[in-house]
Amino acid sequence: MKKLKVRRVIHAKRRRGAIPIAVGLGIALGLFAAKPASVHGETAASKLPSLLLGAAWYPEQWPESRWDKDLQLMEAAHLDVVRVGEFAWSSEEPSEGHYDLDWLERAIRMAEKHHIAVVLGTPTDAPPAWLTTKYPETLRVDEDGRRAQHGLRRQFNYADPLYRKFCAQIVTQLAQRFGHDPDVIGWQIGNEYTDESFDADTRRQFDKWLAAHFHTLDALNADWTTAYWSQTYDRWDAIPLPDEANENPGLLLAYKHFVTDTWRSFQRVQIDVIRKYADPRQFITTNYGGLGWSDHFDHYIVAQDLSLASWDDYVGEGHLKVARNGAMHDLVRGFKRANFWVMETQPGSVNWAPVNNTLDRGETRAMAWQAVGHGADAVLYWQWRSALNGQEQYHGSLLGPGGKPLPIYSEVSQVGSEFERAGAALAGTSPKAQVAILHSYNSRWAIDFQRFNRNYHQLSVLLDYYRPLRQQRLTVDIVNADAPLDSYKLVLAPDLNVISSQLAAHLLAYVEQGGDLLLGPRSGMKNEYDALNVQRQPGPLVAPLGGRVEEYYALETAVPVSGAMGVGTAALWAERLWVRAPDDTVLLRYGKSNGWLDGHAAMITRRVGKGRISYLGAVLDPALMDRVIAWATSDAKIKPEFAPLPDGVEVCRRVSASHTIFVLINHGAVPAEIQLPVAMKNVLDGGKNVTRVQLGAQGVSVLESAR
Ligand code: GAL
Repeated sequence: MKKLKVRRVIHAKRRRGAIPIAVGLGIALGLFAAKPASVHGETAASKLPSLLLGAAWYPEQWPESRWDKDLQLMEAAHLDVVRVGEFAWSSEEPSEGHYDLDWLERAIRMAEKHHIAVVLGTPTDAPPAWLTTKYPETLRVDEDGRRAQHGLRRQFNYADPLYRKFCAQIVTQLAQRFGHDPDVIGWQIGNEYTDESFDADTRRQFDKWLAAHFHTLDALNADWTTAYWSQTYDRWDAIPLPDEANENPGLLLAYKHFVTDTWRSFQRVQIDVIRKYADPRQFITTNYGGLGWSDHFDHYIVAQDLSLASWDDYVGEGHLKVARNGAMHDLVRGFKRANFWVMETQPGSVNWAPVNNTLDRGETRAMAWQAVGHGADAVLYWQWRSALNGQEQYHGSLLGPGGKPLPIYSEVSQVGSEFERAGAALAGTSPKAQVAILHSYNSRWAIDFQRFNRNYHQLSVLLDYYRPLRQQRLTVDIVNADAPLDSYKLVLAPDLNVISSQLAAHLLAYVEQGGDLLLGPRSGMKNEYDALNVQRQPGPLVAPLGGRVEEYYALETAVPVSGAMGVGTAALWAERLWVRAPDDTVLLRYGKSNGWLDGHAAMITRRVGKGRISYLGAVLDPALMDRVIAWATSDAKIKPEFAPLPDGVEVCRRVSASHTIFVLINHGAVPAEIQLPVAMKNVLDGGKNVTRVQLGAQGVSVLESAR
């Protein structure tokens, strides 16, 4: 995304201080690239700051006479943006072909009056009853052949051409009406794409997709080794749409690619309509759900058609899991390798967890700042006010059903006023990492189809690599395995199970040109068809590594490990490595365990070209893993980005060409005092120069220093 430098003066009364700021986010999104249509005079969008706070607002659920009050309360809480309309189809098209968007226009104008910009949701996650009743084929069919019924959401069939036609029609109406609206800054397509359909037509589409991708049945039969269990296919329509986890792994992986392409084309229909009628300054996103880690489809591929990545960040039961949540932000930032939005987050509690406890006082604010620290340019709460009825009556909100602020409202207002104060400093900044963790949906799927150890959780393995990096005060990018890697000094690939020869060439080029690559367990076991690589792990990288995996073992008990990095244990998974090249170094070995592992290599490394490739074949205990990562960062000559910090304090760094921002968050319960490496401006405290900061529990400090 190109970042042009545009300066704009914020002079609304609520923007205290009347400071000129570079509108980083707006610029990133191209908000000001096109002429700012200004039929309405000074619009909300034309005054957008670089850091936005907002909420999901459902005007269709409330009498119009109440809207002004709602928006007044939002403005008072320093909200800049509302997302509206993503479930409003029955209000926008009350009967087939009869559209009513006047109320939406009035809602947007009312938001404008309160200097609040709008993200418009397309309502295609929740079709109206007239549609699904008259055209039941638009309803999805589940794995057991049952058609979904009305009254829930996500009941539509994503592959159904007729459903897509209705989507295109309603989106056409919306885009024609609001595509040039100066207060509409962007679009959200649908909502948290989730459920597939297993109806007969989708099955036929899958056959066609397979034919287009494999070209011949002979190729497909070979790539999937279908001679196994007599699976050999002699017709495309004999291939099942897999509704069964125990299908051939090649078929399962191909199905995931089909699902990805089907979501992408579902989304494309709407994007094409919006792009046809709307200003290019309006961004297009969709809110990824599934607590950040969902793998229903390949998020990188679906994000290719979006101008901005966004996700819904919920904690659910318990409290913020700092590393996990930080990693999810970093993962989402990787979808477009750019700053992103948190399109939804919980004000206090959710309603869908086993125990819907509320976040502690201050935790909601800490979460908002964590999002910003990791690259979010907007944080929106779900939702503004509790609907009187409907499935989510118990969910956290900023206002209660009676329209009065709930206790959390004041904490959110504080975040709003801080975002205002920090906006200028954060404009044009984004996280910049020296180290990347590779992530790939192919590998995620391939391992989860056959975990081998049911306790093997890839997210937890990823966090084993991520946590020590964050403890070393480093920014971490989590990127697709085939992303450009030249800018990284160190690349870690914890579970890169699928390594095709193309991907291997990409990784090898990185190493040869001076990169440091550490592969984790299970890497390179499979090729792009989910077939076993005959070289064994790490597949096409066995030759440059000068060694390989001889055998892998799911562990029921921990195994001792020792070597250059000290002593510890492996759990869950251990691979016995075989070293061939004389210039390979064994860094860790297994101690006495099942006999097969005893004395064998657990981690090896080799210099290749100007760089280094290493392979760690075990899931290690946290202390030993810390030392492995310390070895890797020191070998790659990576220095911490900040001075040492007390336990529980997180540091996030965003940089621009001119300056650096550090966001410090004390996630712990104990107050912390932090000595700064150099004097910095305390952004939330009038820009005073400070050399130390005190952070109470859930305390936040935003500091600016020269680049
Ligand atoms: C999200 C969803 C919202 C709302 C929220 C409640 O997954 O997108 O519409 O249901 O959950 O936590």
